[in-house]
Amino acid sequence: MPLVSLVEILADADRGGYAVPAFNCYNAETVDAVFMAAETARSPVIVQVYNRLFHSNDAANVAICAIAAASKSKLPVALHLDHGAGELEVLRAIRLGYTSVMIDGSELTFEANVEKTAAITRLAAHVGVSVEAELGHVGRADREMDRSAFTDPEKAAEFVALVKVDALAVMVGSAHGTYKIEPKLDIARIAAIKNKIGLPLVLHGGSGIPDPEIQAAVAAGIRKINVATDVCQAFYSAFRGLRADDPDYAKPLDLFMKTVKDRMVTFMADRIEVFGSGGKA
Ligand code: 13P
Repeated sequence: MPLVSLVEILADADRGGYAVPAFNCYNAETVDAVFMAAETARSPVIVQVYNRLFHSNDAANVAICAIAAASKSKLPVALHLDHGAGELEVLRAIRLGYTSVMIDGSELTFEANVEKTAAITRLAAHVGVSVEAELGHVGRADREMDRSAFTDPEKAAEFVALVKVDALAVMVGSAHGTYKIEPKLDIARIAAIKNKIGLPLVLHGGSGIPDPEIQAAVAAGIRKINVATDVCQAFYSAFRGLRADDPDYAKPLDLFMKTVKDRMVTFMADRIEVFGSGGKA
């Protein structure tokens, strides 16, 4: 079936009390792996692409793969611009057939974030594209955690009253990349934000968070979980231990890539299980 909007996928997740995995994709192999894992588990899924890839052909290539795969599938699949920097990437995403966009104003002041996000929601509304915003900046896992950046539930309520977004990414103790110390999510804060705003909440930095933390976050209201670093790690694991003279390097690329894809599928299937979205499509 055609790609669906983020708003549709997340409304179902809200009703069902689970989170939909949003796997960052970079090429045909990552998209293939997402569909293989989601088909087997009967899970709704979000294919998402970093802002950076909209400055090369990669975002278009991923879109072509995802749109073709979705047309042969009965799964609800959304195609999403991740960490959109501004109008340029948002317009490119819309032109390429992406069904949702994130606009990331989380490093701006509250007022500037509202203004930047509102400009995009006005644009996206004309073409029925869903919008995710971020309030409270989710930083990098290799830096000190900035507790002052944690999302304030009252501010979140104020934000969504001023600008009509479809999902809100929140800072609740996660970070992008590989954690130096095990993350501890602020579950009470997630519940308080969910209680105040009702909207589907998004957890960025979904790699490397212990499963019980993830499950508690989902129970508290997280409905979309972004995973990028661990998708790449699953990909790289296929190369680890190979020497330059290994016979695997003499294989045709598609056969070698099958091993790579299988590693990613195993990882993604495990996330689907933990996020609770298996069997929901
Ligand atoms: P990780 O790379 O930590 O999984 O974070 C992904 C992410 O949040 C993409 O927006």
